[in-house]
Amino acid sequence: MDSPDIYDTTNPLDPILEESHDALTGLPLDKKGAVDWMNALNSGAIVPRAGLKVTEKMEILDADIIMKNTKGMPYVKFPHSSHTRWLACVNCHDEIFTSKAGDNPVNMAKIFLGQYCGVCHGKVAFVATSSCERCHSVPRGGTDSWWYPW
Ligand code: HEC
Ligand code: HEC
Ligand code: HEC
Repeated sequence: MDSPDIYDTTNPLDPILEESHDALTGLPLDKKGAVDWMNALNSGAIVPRAGLKVTEKMEILDADIIMKNTKGMPYVKFPHSSHTRWLACVNCHDEIFTSKAGDNPVNMAKIFLGQYCGVCHGKVAFVATSSCERCHSVPRGGTDSWWYPW
């Protein structure tokens, strides 16, 4: 039975549309039991389209940005490659981020409030409160792998 809180039950096509729990069944999960979308993409479980036409191609940019204003935490590696396999540049540039490394005043308070990385992380991508190590993945050398393997 469709939940009217989630689905538009007034849509005449509602009875034939797939429900989310059916659509998500069998996809790989992360340590929190949420869908691990990168794993789903890498394993070929899902193959997102670039646009309505099957002929459209993703514009993939293979450029990692290392962000170093992380206090005592490991540096952040922002991988363009992973993001541009699903997202066109315009999703981020220049409304969320200017296209210049080091130009954006990001911090965790803003991310948790839904700005910068937090526009997506915590909503459509893995949440920032429980996956520090997925972003803070570049050791500064020595003793900063402090986190627990949650
Ligand atoms: C998911 C968000 C996102 C998407 C999509 C994205 N970028 Fe970026 N881009 C960033 C972030 C974050 C930075 C680093 C900003 C910072 O360091 O303050 C950046 C930096 C850049 C830079 C500056 C690099 C440098 O060394 O100064 C360029 C150029 C750039 N992006 C181009 C692109 C292009 C071209 C695309 C599409 C093919 C793209 N970006 C897609 C988030 C994104
Ligand atoms: C426009 C949306 C958007 C923004 C903004 C965004 N991301 Fe993501 N990010 C995604 C999506 C979608 C995924 C894939 C889904 C997932 O892994 O949950 C992802 C995945 C990732 C991954 C996993 C990559 C992999 O290959 O395992 C990292 C790391 C990451 N993002 C870091 C960042 C950082 C750091 C920022 C800010 C500087 C940022 N993202 C901003 C949408 C975004
Ligand atoms: C979605 C990616 C992402 C996740 C997840 C994430 N961070 Fe961050 N973090 C960033 C980015 C981007 C910056 C800013 C780096 C820069 O501007 O050079 C940052 C900066 C920081 C800073 C320094 C600035 C500040 O706000 O004090 C600390 C400390 C920090 N993070 C701790 C954490 C902790 C602890 C967690 C887990 C609870 C976490 N981060 C999870 C992306 C992330």
